[in-house]
Amino acid sequence: RHEDAVEKDEKQRQLDQHRVDLQGTRLTTDQGVLIDDTDNSLQAGERGPTLLEDFHFREKIMRFDHERIPERVVHARGSGAYGQFRVYESLAEHTVADFLCDPSLVTPVFVRFSTVAGSRGSADTVRDVRGFATKFYTRQGNYDLVGNNMPVFPIQDGIKFLDFVHAVKPEPHNEIPQAQSAHDTLWDFVQCQPETLHFVMWLMSDRAIPRSFRMMQGFGVHTFRLVNAEGRATFVKFHWKPLLGTHSLVWDEVLRVQGNDPDFNRRDLWDAIERGAFPEWELGLQIVPESDEHAFDFDLLDPTKIIPEEIVPVRPVGRMTLNRNPENFFAETEQVAFCTANVVPGIDFTNDPLLQARNFSYFDTQLIRLGGPNFAQIPVNQPVAPVHNDNRDGYHQRMIHQSGTSYSINSISGGCPMSGVVSGDFSGVFQHYQERVDGRKIRKRSPSFEDHYSQATLFWNSMSFWEKRHIVNAFLFELGHVERRNIKEKVVGHLVHIDHELATQVALGLGMPVPAGGPANHGKASPALSQANSARETIATRKIAILVTDATDAG
Ligand code: HEM
Repeated sequence: RHEDAVEKDEKQRQLDQHRVDLQGTRLTTDQGVLIDDTDNSLQAGERGPTLLEDFHFREKIMRFDHERIPERVVHARGSGAYGQFRVYESLAEHTVADFLCDPSLVTPVFVRFSTVAGSRGSADTVRDVRGFATKFYTRQGNYDLVGNNMPVFPIQDGIKFLDFVHAVKPEPHNEIPQAQSAHDTLWDFVQCQPETLHFVMWLMSDRAIPRSFRMMQGFGVHTFRLVNAEGRATFVKFHWKPLLGTHSLVWDEVLRVQGNDPDFNRRDLWDAIERGAFPEWELGLQIVPESDEHAFDFDLLDPTKIIPEEIVPVRPVGRMTLNRNPENFFAETEQVAFCTANVVPGIDFTNDPLLQARNFSYFDTQLIRLGGPNFAQIPVNQPVAPVHNDNRDGYHQRMIHQSGTSYSINSISGGCPMSGVVSGDFSGVFQHYQERVDGRKIRKRSPSFEDHYSQATLFWNSMSFWEKRHIVNAFLFELGHVERRNIKEKVVGHLVHIDHELATQVALGLGMPVPAGGPANHGKASPALSQANSARETIATRKIAILVTDATDAG
């Protein structure tokens, strides 16, 4: 294995303490009692009933009966790998996160790639979003960048996540269709919620059928904050860019690959790492000063929007290499627990209402998925930073705390002195960014979240002709499976507001009347967005020119 040639980092050495090699050892029960027959249960006579007394038999059956834990409510099917991250140059100007400030520091990571809708055993190459979740085991604690391979999300507020997922998952009465976006409930949700449309354009594009996890971009989606030593914050969007380039399958390949090898993406990642072709990504940041919070014609807190790279370029800041496969799928890939709330000093949240919901949701679901509050002690989740606090007991507690007290501050045993207040040492302490917050309690979406079409149009305009053709074909395939005609009509009615040509092609393909009207936001787009739009049209034209040149070169 090529990965064995890679020197083990701190996290690997920590994991080694938990790895168990049973080769050549003698069989015992869970209590350590040696067993000499595991093929025959204890019976009363040669053809008689099995005896309850047979503790080995009962233990073996009981352990089998309890092997399953709940699969993740979303992103159930995934593949993971370990690796390392290193920043190119110090970002101390923007953040105190030490893994982003010290170019000599190698930070261990674990990454889990996933599909979203399908169950644990579903096929890899479905049309879907892919999860791209990274756990950085930093010296200041675990930082989780829980992203996707698309930069925008279908909903703006986390309170709608349950509704969205219920619409995407198989229909409740018959559990059909598995892992596909071709059904009435999804498209009904889309037509009821136009905020989904920008995302739907990505979902119908080739981005939704990546060729390989190694050839996928990743996006933190939300606008986060970086905070520096002076307490100054900067808005930031996180990007992962694969060094192999971004590549997709085409739909005909998807259909063929799914039948031939449902593990296509999982196998590709595993094999590449085994043979030493370690996949790499560059971390990129889009940085926006706080003073520019309202400088855009969309809201930075709206997760259905990108910051066009023409307006704020992506700055490459570091590189991640995945160089080691897990040794046990369940222990590592299945039990890993990511959470957007896992941040380190120097990285903070914004008021994006989707992010705020996520900060609660992951931790909450893991309480049930991983059987109680001690899941941070599971080896793959354990920080390499030391953990000291008064949290105690609970299911699956593995630590034997030795102190006679378990509260802080205490004068009996000393307890865990707090940095700063008690010791006067504030270095490395997490300090929440002191954002000023003021307002009445209201249940109302900000008007700055209202435009659902401009960026969908921007996306469409950045596509070359064959990419547009793939998108139209995807709409035709997916909507072609929708039974209710009124849902299809309403979807097409929304497409008109994105682009008339798109709506026309989809309507004609579905045998429906061509709708009237045009993009809703024409004339409303800001100069910056219009500029981005025309720049993208130029890039799209250039892509065609390259294709024509390639075709000519190829004879
Ligand atoms: C799981 C991404 C929005 C709830 C995941 C995973 C990823 C992800 C990558 C898989 C984690 C893994 O590999 O273990 C995202 C992104 C979102 C988003 C990028 C939006 C930008 C939400 C929202 C909620 C949510 C709004 C709830 C309000 C969950 C839950 C899981 C999950 C419950 C399963 C976690 C587990 O069992 O470990 N998400 N998600 N997500 N997500 Fe999200």
